[in-house]
Amino acid sequence: MNPLVSLLCSRQSLGPKHLVDPGPGDAELAQMAEAALHAPDHGELMPVRFAVVRGAARARLAALFAQAARDAGKDEAGAALDAERAARAPVTLAVVARVDRGHMLVPEHEQWVAVGAALANLMNAAHALGFAGKMLSGAKVRNAAIQAAFCGPGETLVGWVALGSAARAPGPRRPKSGAATVLAEWSGRGARIRSGSRRSAQGGRSSV
Ligand SMILES: Cc1cc2nc3c(=O)[nH]c(=O)nc-3n(C[C@H](O)[C@H](O)[C@H](O)COP(=O)(O)O)c2cc1C
Repeated sequence: MNPLVSLLCSRQSLGPKHLVDPGPGDAELAQMAEAALHAPDHGELMPVRFAVVRGAARARLAALFAQAARDAGKDEAGAALDAERAARAPVTLAVVARVDRGHMLVPEHEQWVAVGAALANLMNAAHALGFAGKMLSGAKVRNAAIQAAFCGPGETLVGWVALGSAARAPGPRRPKSGAATVLAEWSGRGARIRSGSRRSAQGGRSSV
């Protein structure tokens, strides 16, 4: 396998409890952001941004998580556990989508694809730089106080990427299903070629 493709295939998520210092510093975060900016992105809208939580801000994130846990009906032990989880990763990136739902050219679903593509590039760059991490979301992304802390008008809190150095090697990976499950030849034999079909069955816009 090509060594870069092999590197991509070796990425494996590692949760916050297995992450230790050092996390990515300014230069490494900038490289990760560059990688995110180079993902496929129709119209170059860059419909996502990443808010860096580190240092003293980790305690503030922990306080927000603790309150969200109380709001969700957890007891003080549960709230303390959530707070501890929030503060554990050396660096956390909040993933904030800024999808323009009324864009003239780029439909919403394409912007969401671009959000995911940017996230994948960012996480693969972190892996290439020797860091481990995991994308996490959960019910907390719907907590009003947490949303208000990270998002401006029209933005959506997708979740958080916990980042750091791996305290242990990742466990054995469940085998993936294999390329043939997602890759198949299209012969085009069943396609009907006809005029007057500007709108697709998906209701998408015909563009570019
Ligand atoms: C947007 C998004 C949100 C996710 N939220 C969670 C989560 O809350 N909890 C979780 O265990 N995994 C979550 N995952 C999945 C993990 O990040 C990870 O991809 C999955 O466990 C597969 O592991 P792998 O990356 O090693 O293949 C999320 C993934 C994405 C893309």
